[in-house]
Amino acid sequence: MDEKLFFELLSKRRSIRVFKSDPIEESKLSKILEVCNLAPSSGGLQTFEIYQIKNKEMKERLVSAAKDQTFVAQAPLLLVFCANPSRSVERFGERSQLFSVQDATIAATYAQLTAYVLGLSTVWIGAFDEKRVSEILHIPKGQRPVAILPIGYENEKPKEKTTRGAKDLLHVIN
Ligand SMILES: Cc1cc2nc3c(=O)[nH]c(=O)nc-3n(C[C@H](O)[C@H](O)[C@H](O)COP(=O)(O)O)c2cc1C
Repeated sequence: MDEKLFFELLSKRRSIRVFKSDPIEESKLSKILEVCNLAPSSGGLQTFEIYQIKNKEMKERLVSAAKDQTFVAQAPLLLVFCANPSRSVERFGERSQLFSVQDATIAATYAQLTAYVLGLSTVWIGAFDEKRVSEILHIPKGQRPVAILPIGYENEKPKEKTTRGAKDLLHVIN
């Protein structure tokens, strides 16, 4: 494991909201899915689903469901990560709701990082009307859209990033 490269990946990845029109190679999409398939999940049950959208009209409809964030339709590819608690409800009961949201979140994070390694860019879209996204994509009842990832080749340079600072995140309990 090359530690330096790994930290470089984590520190250099940034959200991108302006994309070139170039399509995403199928081999890169396959790689992203392969990595999502490796993500840790509750009970190993992989309680999430991924929907792929390339159709322009469908993307435009998702823009309107996502607070008119127009760049969502600019990306050549959208992946919508959904929680699917039905895959684990027998085993985990009510807790499966939370676990499935976490499973979908982890998978989307894996996808975002893998996209970066493949020379692609993404932005996590969480601001959307859940019900409308489900209707537009005909997502089966019980599943819950958690994140939309527009994926494409970047056409902007991100501004400098400000953070709370690592020390601010930790609360030591003795
Ligand atoms: C849960 C979540 C929801 C987000 N929702 C949106 C969104 O709806 N629109 C958007 O432009 N960015 C969204 N972002 C991206 C953040 O704004 C971005 O990750 C943050 O500003 C840090 O910048 P960076 O990704 O370049 O490091 C979201 C990020 C997360 C983790």
